[in-house]
Amino acid sequence: MEVSPREWDILKALEELGGEANAEDLAERAGLPLATLMSDARSLADRGLLRISELVAKRAMLTEEGRRYAERGLPERRLVEALGRLGGEAEIGRAAEEAGLSRQELAIALGWARRRGWVSVEHGVLRLLEAPTVMPEEEALKMLLKGEASVGELIEKGLKGALELLEKRGLIELVEETKRLIRITELGLEVLRGPRPEELVSHLTPELIVSGRWRSVRFKRFNLEAPGPPVYPGRMHPVQEVVQEIREIFLEMGFQEIRGPLVETAFWNFDALFTPQDHPAREMHDTFYLADPSEGGLPAPELVRAVARTHEDGWETGSTGWGYKWSADEARRLVMRTHTTATTIRYLAEHPDPPVWVFCVDRVYRNERVDYKHLAEFHQIEGIVMDVGVGLRDLMGILSEFYRKLGFKKVRFWPSYFPYTEPSLQSTVYSPELRAWIELCGAGIFRPEVVRPLGVKHPVLAWGGGLERLVMLKLGVKDIRVLYRNDLGWLRGLPICP
Ligand code: PHE
Repeated sequence: MEVSPREWDILKALEELGGEANAEDLAERAGLPLATLMSDARSLADRGLLRISELVAKRAMLTEEGRRYAERGLPERRLVEALGRLGGEAEIGRAAEEAGLSRQELAIALGWARRRGWVSVEHGVLRLLEAPTVMPEEEALKMLLKGEASVGELIEKGLKGALELLEKRGLIELVEETKRLIRITELGLEVLRGPRPEELVSHLTPELIVSGRWRSVRFKRFNLEAPGPPVYPGRMHPVQEVVQEIREIFLEMGFQEIRGPLVETAFWNFDALFTPQDHPAREMHDTFYLADPSEGGLPAPELVRAVARTHEDGWETGSTGWGYKWSADEARRLVMRTHTTATTIRYLAEHPDPPVWVFCVDRVYRNERVDYKHLAEFHQIEGIVMDVGVGLRDLMGILSEFYRKLGFKKVRFWPSYFPYTEPSLQSTVYSPELRAWIELCGAGIFRPEVVRPLGVKHPVLAWGGGLERLVMLKLGVKDIRVLYRNDLGWLRGLPICP
């Protein structure tokens, strides 16, 4: 069995201490800091050269009050001694003065002295009834003052009752202390029978090479089994990992990625999507409006006019519109985009000719109270397809394909409502883990009221939904806030390939 010189010295010190010692004593004997000794001792124990056993021992420690009494005597003792000096009888005040007791101590002294039948009190006069012998508590206090004694030692001396009383009086505290007892084994003794090993070299230095000493020294062996420290290399945030996966799926399906401004005019966020200006979703509790600057520019006047007319009376879309007076000022207001549909509709206005197959995965904002299900800033996944002759079946097919690639086999569609699509759908996917159908996105075909003002002449399939819910499903997270808490422990613990 190979040991290092230091390990050999530790075994030797242990042998000199009689083959058994507690860790502190052994550290002192070996001239090593306790932590170093313990780490060596554990390694020696792993190799069967010594054994470490842990003992939980109780130790009694004097409290501040206990220390005072241990030095000066228990108050009741001081009181009866003073009374003795005063001839066995005195007024309480006089006795207290003689004993040098504070008011508080006097109360304690009186209580105990009477309870023990040492004194009697009558009309404020104290009389000594019995001269007490030394009590076990006093003995215990003395011992504790000299040095800390273990509870075991005190109990051996028959002071168990005294300890209990002292603890009840708050004069001592019992603390648990772990003692490590180290004992040499037969194997350890055998190692000591051999010579002390030479110093092993663990690092090859330039000096060793240049001087040629490397030829004669002994090198320490590598322990190839020793566990290395965990390594946490840089990695993508789990939300970004899913974003990346979604990008790849869209790209595989022939889509292009688009992006748009986070700060939008209400025009693109709402008006171009045929959302009336008094729609509840526009109200303050849902939408963040910017205070400064509060307004943005509107697009080409013909487009704005067409949108305005469509809202008012349907313009040439075949609709009757919403029937109210449209306000350009309301449309100019700046908002934090509440959905990525603002971005796809803006793109559509600039690209009115087919084919358009684009998607957007990006941040949106809503004035939500943050809780386990909601954040004020989150992500949406959005897509549109504008092409000759596409229809509802294509929409459902594309969405099913998208989900299938994400790992969701079962998809369902339900009729729904959005101001800008007709028909409108809500899609749900089945999560086998949760055994539940989860709503993932809204979808539909843009209404003529939306596409006509933009000059778009072909059907536009559109869908959009939250990203975080998907990430939570994938990671098994129940609280959305966990995703953005930047909890390094959680981030590091996530498997790279779930
Ligand atoms: N924008 C809708 C939302 O935020 C989703 C949607 C997008 C619905 C496109 C229909 C078409 O919930």
